[in-house]
Amino acid sequence: MIYFNNAATSYPKPPPVTAAVLQNIEGVPVSIYRENVTGMNVLDGCRGAVTDLFHFKDPERVVLCSGATEAINMAVFGILPERGHVITTTNEHNAILRPLFHLEDRGAITLDVLPATSPGGISCPDLEQKIRDDTCLIAVNHASNVTGQVQSLDPIYEVCASHEIPLLLDVSQSAGSTGIDLSGRPYLVAAFTGHKSLFGPPGTGGLVVGESVRIIPWKFGGTGIRSELRSMPDLRPSSLEPGTPNYPGIAGLCAGIAFVVEQGVENLSKIRMELVRHLAGYLGPAGYSVHSVDADENPCGIVSFCRKGWSCEDIGYVLNHSYDIRLRTGLHCAPLIHKDLGTYPDGTVRVSFSPFNTHEEVDTLIEALETIRGCK
Ligand SMILES: Cc1ncc(COP(=O)(O)O)c(C=O)c1O
Repeated sequence: MIYFNNAATSYPKPPPVTAAVLQNIEGVPVSIYRENVTGMNVLDGCRGAVTDLFHFKDPERVVLCSGATEAINMAVFGILPERGHVITTTNEHNAILRPLFHLEDRGAITLDVLPATSPGGISCPDLEQKIRDDTCLIAVNHASNVTGQVQSLDPIYEVCASHEIPLLLDVSQSAGSTGIDLSGRPYLVAAFTGHKSLFGPPGTGGLVVGESVRIIPWKFGGTGIRSELRSMPDLRPSSLEPGTPNYPGIAGLCAGIAFVVEQGVENLSKIRMELVRHLAGYLGPAGYSVHSVDADENPCGIVSFCRKGWSCEDIGYVLNHSYDIRLRTGLHCAPLIHKDLGTYPDGTVRVSFSPFNTHEEVDTLIEALETIRGCK
């Protein structure tokens, strides 16, 4: 089996990730003082790993949860007032679009959606122009899970910060694939997932909350402390982390981040970019239409393509059933970008690499695509 679906969930995981999960799940549960492999508290250990990775100084502002979807919901429902205006982009995953569409349909927000696929990315003058007196959130995908395009954070953040508007940045694809510096950005809230390029287990992730952003609890329950209170204790990060944490998952995420740091984000993305170069070098000349960015700008290792006369689903079916190549076809939970790309509603065939993939595997895919090319 050849696995090219790493933008969905990375596979395989580095062995220390599996070992950390196993060690944690086999250990005696002792609530928040449960020890992880390094002997530190699991949650504190993971918060420390996240702050180091993102150059962020305050572990108390790292909220751990079940993934980017939960983190984004926490931010959207915890930041927005009863009425307001939100700006987002066509690049977004449904993890951002659906909470915002839900609030728009309820009449709680008005929404502006900026196009985001131009070569330079989101236009900051256009973003600035859309800002109104009641704009209370700007939500942007850092790296597209369809095109691999990475937005430049600095200019977007500058626009948001100059208006004191929180910027919700979805770093699901970019965390672990490209360096992300969250230091000195008080209006930034970054939602990350654990199970992609951080090599953690599914069901892990979190929200890194800049110091000028206040998030009101949106989920309520036990925190293991201040149980006498009727309301959530006003303590960071407990107020946003009710319920029993996913200790084994978090132990695995911590080991995944350690792997990324040890290998170096840039070294890992260099491997992905070389694989992109290899595949893209075949696709265009062979008559496949490529909808992802060039290898040099593609640290996430995402290649999206189509073939005239073939539905994406059929290509995926043949690759899976005849060649045992696993990848993803369709809209990839990001419907609006396909309207920009002209690939709606069929979507694209998406290959997404991990540093564990090899050039021999890409050659096998190319052989399969050559056969498909010869069929119609
Ligand atoms: C850009 C983007 N945002 C959000 C998500 C959702 O992440 P999670 O699976 O952690 O909820 C994904 C996952 O596919 C994604 O690619």
